[in-house]
Amino acid sequence: MKQIIKIALGVFILASATGCKDKDGLAPEYMPDMYRSPAIETYVDYGMDPYYVGEAIAEQQRNRPSARKPVEGTIPRGYMPYPYPNTFEGYQLAGEQLKNPLPKTEENVKKGKELFGMFCVHCHGKDGQGQGSLVENGKFPPIPTKFNENLDLPEGKMFHTITYGKGLMGSHASQLTQEERWLLVMYIRNQFMKEPLNNNVNIEADTNAVH
Ligand code: HEC
Repeated sequence: MKQIIKIALGVFILASATGCKDKDGLAPEYMPDMYRSPAIETYVDYGMDPYYVGEAIAEQQRNRPSARKPVEGTIPRGYMPYPYPNTFEGYQLAGEQLKNPLPKTEENVKKGKELFGMFCVHCHGKDGQGQGSLVENGKFPPIPTKFNENLDLPEGKMFHTITYGKGLMGSHASQLTQEERWLLVMYIRNQFMKEPLNNNVNIEADTNAVH
């Protein structure tokens, strides 16, 4: 009995493997949708192949992607282009020209502090002296930058570094919006570099005094 089952099984397998082939030698497809998914990919031009449909129809069909790429130079809503390239010159220029656009308030410093606790503290440490947990555990080499009053670093350079990264510090551009990066710069300067919050107000008061 077992023999018979084995033979029957063998014949069945052989038949399925070699059987039903169409004239091109290909097996017919059972429910072809399952193999040829109708899913449409973005940006792919589904224009027809002229080999099959002729140039005239292919021409009509050409350039019909499922979605179109935005026109070159398009700026997403809420995004500000950052004109300083990731070069030494870009870094220097950002340092000279870029100023924090956000008002320097306690509330903003508080927001910056929260972000610092999420994204920076494990390297730069709670007090900004580079004693973060990664450094303490020996997982990351000591951080050369210590945030304190003696650090002579314009805010534009700080923003640039958070945007592109520097040395062993990676770019944080994909994790933090531009506004969040400025909040961090504000927090670091106020908390560790002892920059007073109302300094922009002071500058204005001084100029008024001169006039
Ligand atoms: C993985 C560790 C690591 C993390 C996380 C990290 N940093 Fe850094 N950071 C460094 C290192 C290393 C340097 C020194 C870079 C150099 O000068 O070579 C540095 C330098 C800096 C500087 C000085 C830049 C300059 O121009 O000299 C600033 C400002 C800074 N970090 C801010 C931040 C902020 C804000 C965050 C959180 C969003 C952050 N860092 C997260 C490792 C880190």
